[in-house]
Amino acid sequence: MIGIFDSGSGGLTVLQEVRRRMPRADIIYFGDTKHAPYGNKTREEITVRTIEAIGELARHGADSILSACNSVSASLAVSLFDALPLSSDRLIEMVGPTVAALKDSPDRLLIAATAATIDSGIYQNAFRMVGKDVAMVAIPELAGAIERGADESEQGRAIRDALGSVNPDSFDTLVLSCTHYPLALPLFMRHTAGKRINNPADAVAERVAAAWGAREVGDGTLSFLLTQDSAPFRAHVGRFFPEAAHSIEVIQ
Ligand code: DGL
Repeated sequence: MIGIFDSGSGGLTVLQEVRRRMPRADIIYFGDTKHAPYGNKTREEITVRTIEAIGELARHGADSILSACNSVSASLAVSLFDALPLSSDRLIEMVGPTVAALKDSPDRLLIAATAATIDSGIYQNAFRMVGKDVAMVAIPELAGAIERGADESEQGRAIRDALGSVNPDSFDTLVLSCTHYPLALPLFMRHTAGKRINNPADAVAERVAAAWGAREVGDGTLSFLLTQDSAPFRAHVGRFFPEAAHSIEVIQ
C-alpha cells in the first residue's frame, strides 16, 4: 500500500496525479492538519513531524511512502533511514523528480516555495549540482491561507506581494514547489500573465508510477487520516475525488 503525507491539503494535488496513473493502487493519505502549515516551522520541528507521519502511515500498513511535501524534503536526509521503518527505494519525495524533470529545460526557472524549503537550500543545491542556476521566491503566508480555506482575495494578496519583489523579465517558468500552490493555480495564472507554470506533481507521479506501478495493484482503495478535522480538507477531497469511495478518519 502507498502512504502519502503532507501538512494538510497540498498533497492532494499529488495524490490526484498518482491516482490518474495508478487507479488500482491502494492509497492511504496522512494530512497533519493539526500542525499545518509546516513551511514556517524549524527544521527540527519538521523532522519530528516527518518521522511521526511516516510512522503513522507504516502503522496503517503503508510500505511505500510518497512525501508530498517539499518543506520536509530537507529533513529526509539519508541518515534518517535508520530511524524510519522503510528503505530508500520505498521513499519518493518532491525535490529529486522535480529537478530531474527540469534540469535540461532552457527556461530560466523561478521556484516558488515555503520559507522552510527555501531556507533549507535544497532546490538551490540540487539545481547547482546539475549546473543550473535558479531563482527562488518565498510565499510565506500562502500555504496556511489555503489550508484554512481563506478567500481568494487573501490568497491573491499573498501571491501578489511575493511576486511583486521579482523582476518579471528575469524568469520564463514559475515552478510551484509547494504542493499547496496548485490549489491556487488560477490566481498564479492571473499574477504571472505570459509565463509558463510548472506543477511538479506530474513529474513526481511519473516517478511513482515507474517505481511502484507494477507492484502496487490492488483494489484502488482510498483512505485519509487527519490529525484534526478540517472542512477545507473535506471540501478538497470531495472536489478532487467525487466518484471515489473513501474514508476520512481523524486520529489523535
Ligand atoms: N505542501 C507543503 C509543501 O509542499 C507544506 C506547506 C506548508 O505546510 O507550509 O511544502
